[in-house]
Formats: sequence, C-alpha cells, structure tokens
Amino acid sequence: MNAHFTSNDFRAALGAFVTGVTVVTTRDPAGKPHGVTANSFSSVSLDPPLVLWSQAVTSKSHPAFCGSDHFAVHILAEDQIAISNHFARSRDDKFDDVLHTDGIGDIPLLAGCVARLECAKVAAYPGGDHIVFLGRVERISCSDRRPLAFHGGKYARCPVLDDCTT
Ligand SMILES: Cc1cc2nc3c(=O)[nH]c(=O)nc-3n(C[C@H](O)[C@H](O)[C@H](O)COP(=O)(O)O)c2cc1C
Repeated sequence: MNAHFTSNDFRAALGAFVTGVTVVTTRDPAGKPHGVTANSFSSVSLDPPLVLWSQAVTSKSHPAFCGSDHFAVHILAEDQIAISNHFARSRDDKFDDVLHTDGIGDIPLLAGCVARLECAKVAAYPGGDHIVFLGRVERISCSDRRPLAFHGGKYARCPVLDDCTT
C-alpha cells in the first residue's frame, strides 16, 4: 500500500462517491447461472454503447464471467435491497430461489429493476486485484422505478432536488 494513506483511508475516500447498485449476471459454459452485486458499474461510450464493471479476481464467480461472452447489468430499484444482499453473498446456489428468464446469450435476467442492459463482453482488462469487463450493450429495458443508491458502505435513497436544473 502507498505510504501516504492506509487501505481504510482509501476505502473511506471511495465510499464518498455515491453510486447505484447493480447485479451483474452471466451463465458459465456448463450452463450454470451466476450473479454478483456490483457498484463498480459505469457508462463508457454512447456510440458505440459501452459500459464497464470490475470484479475482484478472488470472487467465486470470476471464472464464470471470464468464460462467458455475455453479461447483463441490472440497475436495482430502492425496494431491492434484499436482492442486493442475496447476490453479495458467495453461494453456489444463488439462482435456486430467484425467478429469472433468459436473455441474449442465455444470460439470466432478473425482474423489477430500474433498468437492465444486456451486453456482449468485448474486453477484459487487468486492474490490480480486479478485472475490468467492458461490454457492448445489445438490448436495454427501462422503467420509471426509483434507484437504490450506495454511499459510505450503506444503502441510500436518491431524493430528487427540484431546484437543480441543467
Ligand atoms: C453494494 C455492493 C457493491 C459491490 N460491488 C462489487 C464490485 O463492483 N465488484 C466486485 O467484485 N464485488 C463487489 N461487491 C462484492 C460482491 O457482491 C461479493 O463479493 C459477492 O459475494 C461475490 O459473489 P461470488 O463470490 O459468488 O462471485 C459488492 C458488494 C456490495 C454489497
């Protein structure tokens, strides 16, 4: 670790950035569905439509995401904390009790989220103890539900500030 800050300081600084919460899903070459909670999601490019997220190389599902050429990003709604917690636990059977359908590339899709982006994986870049996955968005679905936020290690709501205009 850099001598100028501790790893706790670094975590606290990163936690100052408010993010949404996503569940990213895929299906491994043997056909088993996988999903993880991730707040590293970010938009990258509008044309072509590209997004990214990063995954710890120590994650149980990491080999599945490396071995698949598609993934789906589910942007969670504020009433989906239980889904977020479910996919944040390392378990082999995460999909046994979760209703899902199949999307492009047979990727498992969850319902009830704010938005869903079905992606073809176009690159995977090493990033320290994570791998950055870049995806080209092939299909989207959106709703007018309110998003779940994450800040300082806690879930949060996103109030709309009416006096802010662009
Ligand atoms: C709000 C939140 C955001 C998270 N973001 C990420 C992330 O961006 N990348 C990551 O690798 N893990 C992230 N995690 C941790 C994973 O969800 C967790 O390690 C999960 O157990 C991984 O599943 P697996 O071990 O089955 O692969 C996050 C957890 C929470 C609660």
